[in-house]
Amino acid sequence: MKPTARRVADFLPSAFGEMTLLANQHGAVNLGQGFPDFLPPSFVTEALRRVLADPQPQLQQYAPPRGWLALQQALAEAFAPSLGHQPDPLGEVTITVGATQALYSIMQALLEPGEEVIVFEPQFDTYTPQILLAGGQPRYVQLHPGPPSAGADGWSFDEGELRAAINNNTKIILLNTPHNPTGKVFSRSELQTIADIAIEHNLYVLSDEVYDHLIYDGQHISIASLPGMRERTLTVGSAGKLFSVTGWRLGWIFASSQLSAAIRQGQQWATFAAATPVQQAVADCLHQAVITDYYRQTIADFRQKRDLLAEALEEAAMLAWLPEGGYFIVADVHRWLEAGFAANTSELSRRLVTEFGVAAMPASVFYSPATRQFAPASLRLAFCKRNETLMAASERLAKLAERFLGVGA
Ligand SMILES: Cc1ncc(COP(=O)(O)O)c(C=O)c1O
Repeated sequence: MKPTARRVADFLPSAFGEMTLLANQHGAVNLGQGFPDFLPPSFVTEALRRVLADPQPQLQQYAPPRGWLALQQALAEAFAPSLGHQPDPLGEVTITVGATQALYSIMQALLEPGEEVIVFEPQFDTYTPQILLAGGQPRYVQLHPGPPSAGADGWSFDEGELRAAINNNTKIILLNTPHNPTGKVFSRSELQTIADIAIEHNLYVLSDEVYDHLIYDGQHISIASLPGMRERTLTVGSAGKLFSVTGWRLGWIFASSQLSAAIRQGQQWATFAAATPVQQAVADCLHQAVITDYYRQTIADFRQKRDLLAEALEEAAMLAWLPEGGYFIVADVHRWLEAGFAANTSELSRRLVTEFGVAAMPASVFYSPATRQFAPASLRLAFCKRNETLMAASERLAKLAERFLGVGA
């Protein structure tokens, strides 16, 4: 047989998929991968049920590649306050198969071979492969951790380091707020610094805001809303994250009509369109969410989950950088390494899942091989889980901490 293509040869399997596999094999509590283990609210599943029962034949057929108009309109309305303008539904809202494909389509539409994307590290692990698949090059700028007691806000970048990373090939600054894995919510002044640099160097900003509805401390600000940023910002969102339905695979991009046209030109030959019934159901959900006060309730639920896990981690000598937003907690495990439980965080997370039934990601997977030395000795744990799941993980960690470190109980 002839060899398969070089462009995919060096990619490793996703560390998250592997962790979920290990968790299933070992009957572990899975705090590794960021998906809810609870049912979405009933208005969400009801919305899809209603659409499937709707007698209009076109609801079961192809949507246009730009998206289903009812959803484009609902999104334009729902996100106008945070974007600081109401996007034109037809020209400036593009529907995708999850935020993952939104990011992919943007890289494909914007990058020429060799052009560079600034990526803050730690980073959501999808970014680098997608940049490479588009022929681009990632260039990393570190978010330096403060002490865990400073919370997720302590993770900060140095303006000089950001400026030093820019060269003639730089095309995009990739921003993620609220941030995966740290839970950092970028402040207005940090966003203004990024915006000033983007304008000064004529760069695009790709802003991944899939956790924008989950803010526990501070305020979510879309960089598109800052002066001069509307035309150069592409803002990405996810219905999977918004409504706890990651399996529905639905996302979107807000961008100028010129950028949206380029994205759609590529997208029509890839996925063609996202599932029509899901698009209509999400449009209905966006209306229902306001009526049912869903967002306020969701924040309250997730804040309680965050606090439950953070407290359990602290008792198990894993100090958390308390997240300001999103699904995840990063926790410092240097005491576990010093106590000889494992030689490094990869081995530690492997032991936790295979021997002690708790799946968590080593923070090192959020760094590239070349910059892995910057990863603090820490784990990322997802708290988008049922309270019973979080309690089960807490109990296992507490027992382990007592046994190996002599703390707690
Ligand atoms: C920061 C970030 N962006 C994008 C995604 C992908 O979202 P979707 O499931 O809609 O493809 C994730 C999923 O974990 C994420 O954490």
